[in-house]
Amino acid sequence: MNVDIDAKIPNNVDLAGDRRLQRALESWQPKFVQWWRDLGPVDFQELPVYLRTAVDVGREGWANFDYVHMPEYRWGIFLADAEPDRRIAFGDHRGEPVWQDVPGEYRADLRRLLVVQGDTEPASVEQQRSLCLTAPSLYDLRNLFQVNVEEGRHLWAMVYLLHRYFGRDGRDEADEMLERHSGDPDHPRILGAFNEPTPDWLSFFFFTYFTDRDGRFQLASLRESGFDPLSRTCDFMLKEEAHHMFVGATGVGRVVERTVELMKEHDTEDVRPFGGIDVQTLQRYLNFHCSVSLDLFGAETSTNAANYFAAGLKGRFKEEARDDDHRLHDAMRTVPHVTDGGVGRREAPALAALNETLREDYIADCRKGVDRWNRTLADVGEELRLPHVGFNRAVGTFSTRRIAPDGTLLTDDEWQSAVDGWLPTDDDHTFVESLMVGVREPGRMAGWLAPPSAGIHAKPVDFEYVKLS
Ligand SMILES: [Fe+2]
Ligand SMILES: [Fe+2]
Repeated sequence: MNVDIDAKIPNNVDLAGDRRLQRALESWQPKFVQWWRDLGPVDFQELPVYLRTAVDVGREGWANFDYVHMPEYRWGIFLADAEPDRRIAFGDHRGEPVWQDVPGEYRADLRRLLVVQGDTEPASVEQQRSLCLTAPSLYDLRNLFQVNVEEGRHLWAMVYLLHRYFGRDGRDEADEMLERHSGDPDHPRILGAFNEPTPDWLSFFFFTYFTDRDGRFQLASLRESGFDPLSRTCDFMLKEEAHHMFVGATGVGRVVERTVELMKEHDTEDVRPFGGIDVQTLQRYLNFHCSVSLDLFGAETSTNAANYFAAGLKGRFKEEARDDDHRLHDAMRTVPHVTDGGVGRREAPALAALNETLREDYIADCRKGVDRWNRTLADVGEELRLPHVGFNRAVGTFSTRRIAPDGTLLTDDEWQSAVDGWLPTDDDHTFVESLMVGVREPGRMAGWLAPPSAGIHAKPVDFEYVKLS
């Protein structure tokens, strides 16, 4: 499909060939831009930012880098190229041709999947809107904005599917995406982690590491969908998502690097007096963001998850690489189960346990970055650890129990007396906040993190990523 890059809404879905749809989306567009102005970044909206814009999906480059005023960013609709003769890879329809339209019996489920995914995209922009005031460098400021505009485009991706395939209901859902707001007591975002504020840059780096990574795993499962337009949409979104993973992994990595540098220089673990973030504080932030992100995968067993899979709507991570029958009707597995006696496991049908399967794949992926950070920390004999899957959980079997980061079942009293060592305290927040001073000179970095090893798009680190004058 050709790319219409000059259209009011850039797209490769032949919007011009469907006037009704085009009109409907063009009337949603100003509401979106208004939302961006009201709830997007609190500053810098009128300044040129060096940003990547998706302009195509092809192999020979899919993005353009240039200075852009954010409200004029070209949010477009792009589906990855169709795979000829693609077949459904899992569930009860395995082997059948993929659907180009929504099967009537799955309409409600698919709509729900799109709405839940779509809702997270603008939510994170809202959560991060004040961070621009305290960016540790222009390079980081630009990366924040890149993540923000792309989350905006991800909303466009879901809104396109809702408008195109769900008629009036879909248009209503698209409007509601702009009416729910992160942390709004009356109209909150759908998922818990997306109502937590992202108050500082350490939180932002851990958020992009853990919570954007949940997004990556959800998108990767939806890419398997038998509903081909959803699959192709997610396929392309994952390209952008890779940069969000990069921002998180390298962001935390640079903080760790600086911490180690200060520990060596001053021969102490207590680097706070020297403007660094000590390893214990990093561990507490990690524990928090990891545990709230684990909740996003849902309960250990779920009828919805089983139904989505059986119906061919949402597969597993890397479905086709798996060595089983891809239907899972007779398969069993074990899932975590906690009782008064302690943390154990129970047997469950594999189909019902798909949330747990995805959560495990996610945890394995999270571990890779932690291992990389630990190679730096090894220099000073320290390490960071992922907490036990049951730690600080609000969803599933662990939600009514207290579990230590090492997996020990605790009484309420034991938890209360130890929790300050495990989750960020008021004192931690105050300290981290005290380090958050906006640095706006090209190439300069705040003192609590190391510079990146390279700039963006082959530009130097001291490039003027945001033009302040
Ligand atoms: Fe996203
Ligand atoms: Fe993201």
